[in-house]
Amino acid sequence: MDGKINMDEIPVAELIKSALEARKKSYSPYSGYQVGAAVLTNELRIYTGCNIENAAYSPGICAERTAVYKAVSEGKRRFRAIAITGGRADEQELSYAFPCGVCRQVLREFTQPEEFAVIVAKSSEDYKIYSLAQLLPESFGPDHLSK
Ligand code: THU
Repeated sequence: MDGKINMDEIPVAELIKSALEARKKSYSPYSGYQVGAAVLTNELRIYTGCNIENAAYSPGICAERTAVYKAVSEGKRRFRAIAITGGRADEQELSYAFPCGVCRQVLREFTQPEEFAVIVAKSSEDYKIYSLAQLLPESFGPDHLSK
């Protein structure tokens, strides 16, 4: 994990629990891979999301983006952390579900990458923490477009 992340205010266990709960809502009949995510706003509110697939495949969306877009659509644009839980529907044990490249870029839009914690969890006891900067180094963001 990066030195710049302040974990003091991040309720890791609560975030993981929320992500596990959200995963139960996953609509993933095509891949059979169920993902739940819980994102923490700067005001310490939690928004959750699951992956939602589609018969036409490309309209599907990841759990992380569902959570972030729910929050943004309610006026929240700054985030501190996200917990991600994922695994096959037919397997008891979860895998470490790392965010896909598109979700990393979406998180980049609304975070300070060095200070944002990505918690990849199998359970409340078994998880890894990375900064977004570690997962998306040398990234392109809103600051590149500002004058
Ligand atoms: N998925 C996520 O929800 N998050 C990720 O970061 C990786 C992949 C979903 C998309 C799709 O519904 C299923 O997992 C298999 O790719």
